[in-house]
Parts: sequence; C-alpha cells; structure tokens
Amino acid sequence: MSEQQQQQARILIAEDEANLRLVLQKELERLGYRVQAAPDGEAALRKLEESNVDVLLCDINMPRIDGMELLRRVHQRPNPPEVIMLTGQATVETAVEAMKLGAYDYLTKPYTISELDVRVRQAADKRRLRVDNTRLREQLARQSALPEIVSVSEVMKEAIRLIERVAPSEASVLITGESGTGKELVAHAIHRLSNRADASFVDLNCAAFQESLLESELFGYEAGAFSGAKGRKLGLIELADGGTLFLDEVTELPAQLQAKLLRAIETRTFFRVGGVRKVEVNVRIVAATNRNLDAVVNDGVFRSDLLYRINGFQISLAPLRERPEDIEPLTRYLLKRIAGTHPPELTDDAFAALRAYNWPGNVRQLKNCLERAVILSNNGRITLSELPPEVTRPAIAPIVPAAAPQVAGAEVAPVLAAPVASTPGSLRESERQQILAALEQTGWHRGKTAEILGISPSTLYRRLRDYDLERRR
Ligand SMILES: Nc1ncnc2c1ncn2[C@@H]1O[C@H](COP(=O)(O)OP(=O)(O)OP(=O)(O)O)[C@@H](O)[C@H]1O
Ligand SMILES: [Mg+2]
Repeated sequence: MSEQQQQQARILIAEDEANLRLVLQKELERLGYRVQAAPDGEAALRKLEESNVDVLLCDINMPRIDGMELLRRVHQRPNPPEVIMLTGQATVETAVEAMKLGAYDYLTKPYTISELDVRVRQAADKRRLRVDNTRLREQLARQSALPEIVSVSEVMKEAIRLIERVAPSEASVLITGESGTGKELVAHAIHRLSNRADASFVDLNCAAFQESLLESELFGYEAGAFSGAKGRKLGLIELADGGTLFLDEVTELPAQLQAKLLRAIETRTFFRVGGVRKVEVNVRIVAATNRNLDAVVNDGVFRSDLLYRINGFQISLAPLRERPEDIEPLTRYLLKRIAGTHPPELTDDAFAALRAYNWPGNVRQLKNCLERAVILSNNGRITLSELPPEVTRPAIAPIVPAAAPQVAGAEVAPVLAAPVASTPGSLRESERQQILAALEQTGWHRGKTAEILGISPSTLYRRLRDYDLERRR
C-alpha cells in the first residue's frame, strides 16, 4: 500500500482510559492515519454514524456499551470497519471470543506502537480489498443490467459518450432537457457506471414537497426538532453517503434550502434539522431540470453559485423531434419492453405517422402511445386506428392571424384539420349520446356495445377515450 493510501486510512479508537486514548491517538496520527477517539461504546457508535471508518480499535471494558456489544452492533451496520480488540491479560479469553464474532485481530497490553501499526495497516488493507471486491463483483453484475439507452442519432451518441466519460469521475452533473427526454434514465446510468455504483442511488424530486418537508426529507432531523419529531430521522443526503444523490427538478428548490445545500456540498458536512452536531457526508450530486437555466438564474429563482457547483458538467438531451431517426429504434425497443419477445407489428403507415409526429412529450409520450396501441392491437398488428388522434391527424397549419389577408388557395384549411368542436347538438354530441345509450343498454359491456353500434372494439375504445367515457359514470 502506498504512503498516500495509508495516510487516508481512517481509525476510530474506543478506549475509556483517557491517557492511553490520547497517547494512541497522537502516535497513530504521527504515523499518518486519520484518527478519531471516543471514551465509550456509545460515543463510538455515534462517531461511526457520522463518518466512514476503516479500522476500529476497541477496548473491551468500557462504560455504557462495552467492547463486545460495540463489536456486535458494528457488525449489524452495512459495510462495517475492521475491528481490532485491545485487551488486558484478564480479558484475553473475551478477545478470542470476539474473533469468533468477526473481529479482525486482538492486541494484548502491553504492545508496542510498531506492533499496533502493523495490525492497523493490515486491517485497513483488508477492508479496502473487501470494499473493492464487492464493487468489482457488482460492477460485473451490473454490466448486463445497465438500462439500455437507445441512441442512433448523432446527438444521442454524443450524449452517451459524455455519460461514459463523466460517470467514473467525481464531477457533479447537471442533466437538462424537455420533459420525457430521458433525464432520469441518464442519471441512473451515470450512477451505475460510476465508482459509487455499489452504494445507493437516492433520488429526490425537489418539486414534490413543501419547503419544511423538503428540508427534513433532505437533511433529516433530530428527535424533538419540531412537534411530532419523535425519533431521529436520517435525511436522503445521509442515506446517499458514499453514493449518488439525484436532485430532480433542482430549480424548484426553495431559496433557503439552496443555501443550505450549497454549504453541504462545499463543506461536505451538514446539520440535521434541530441538530447541533455536524454530520460528515460524501455524496456525488447529479441534478436535472427541464427549465431554461439562464432564465431561472436571471429571475433570481435559482442561486448562480449553486448552479456553478452542480453544473460541473452538463449533459443536455435533445427533444425527440430534433432526432427523428431515434423514433423507429425507440419504438422497436419500447414495444419489446411493453409486450415481451413477440410484440405486435406496426404497419408501414403507422410507422410513418409515428415518424412524422412532433412528440411534445418526447419519449415518455411515445411510450404511453405504444402502451395504449398494444392494448388495442388486433391480430398482432398495430395500424393507424390504434394510434391516438393527435398522432394520426395531419399537422395543423399555423393559424393565420385574423387581420392578415387570406391567401387564396392556402394549402390546409385549419378548420378542417382542427378537432371538431363539441357544440351541443353537433354530430359529435349525437354520436356521444348514441354510444352512451348503447353502453347503458349493455351494462357497460364494451364488446356488446361495439357489436350493437356495428364498429370494431378498437374504434369503440378510441371513441370512449375521445369522449371521456372510459369509466362508468
Ligand atoms: N433513449 C432512451 N432509450 C430508452 N428509453 C428511453 C430513452 N429516453 C427515455 N426513455 C424512457 O422514456 C421514459 C421517460 O424518461 P425519463 O423519465 O427519464 O424522462 P425525464 O427527462 O426525466 O422526464 P421529466 O422531466 O418529465 O421527469 C422512461 O420510461 C424512460 O425509460
Ligand atoms: Mg424525470
């Protein structure tokens, strides 16, 4: 192990004898370790909660929680440190017992500092190997489990190149793009391709909570922080320790929380709500927004200093209409995901309609459209009539301003292409009434209703959706 790595090994000493504790701490620090100390088992557990420790040096006789109990509790935690028991002659048997419980080693007093150094270094090595091993194993398992991001267009290929480049680094990433362009999918991919992939991916939608809830969701709280706060609650930032925190719709974060988040990112520490102790945390931030960044910063809605912090690297996802060559491969991919290995086939004109449409809701809208079409499909085929009207309808020509002179022979008459207005007594309304009557007659049995009306079930479903008659009223 290199000198550099040794300096980084983090040691926690749990020892009730003040002099010994101090000597151990000074000596180990002199050897280049990062050392913390606690006078009893309870204090040691708290430290373990606040920081990541590689090796725990653990006295056996201590007030409150003794060494054996501390060892047990440490091993209940995920990714525990290696534990070396420090024993007097009287407790050697207990130390041997501790080895059976999973302690790495024990040292009998008196021991020299160089003996201690050797054991601590070996224990730190072992932990590092253990962590690396799990990471490698999970990385292998992951390679096959990586969510597929369909990318045929040049712009999406470029986005994938950026994702692969930035993922293994520690840089914060900001993903921008319209709703439904795949921001969340990309955030997951970054985490899974990162060195943090074996730790958690925690996501928080910043628009989903009101301010006070959002604060305790993000930072957690201490018992008694406010009425109703019975016990301590860990915040998402803490649950993401060692992993990735995905802040979705990050520009919706209220101003006060923006300041608190900025401090947490800069100092790598934060306070739980109502807490007085700083908690250390190591998270990588990936954020997403569908808003225009310049606009939210200029409006003063979003702090520019926080933006610079999280915008270490930006990936912007183009709207689907700007990469129509992705529509066909996406359609094939999504159909398989929706309908399994033998999805229904799309007819040529159905494909043409999908390609021609401008997809304001992007890939999510395409996915919803296909889900519906699969349900409506007959004989393993998706035709134009299984696609929603907005997709199959020819594009509406831009509406000519009323004041502008009418050009003779305008290509498309907007009135014809626009949806039929539902004026009472219109054709549309009478059709609706007819369907409603048939539905009542059959007790809302869709198949029989279609029969009575002499239309195919798929046409009926489309009409029911159009007329908002999907549910019995
Ligand atoms: N390139 C792609 N390949 C495969 N699936 C995709 C792709 N892009 C998006 N999807 C799928 O489309 C759906 C919408 O994507 P996602 O939820 O990531 O969008 P988003 O940008 O986060 O949207 P919003 O801003 O509304 O939250 C998801 O089901 C996602 O898996
Ligand atoms: Mg999203």
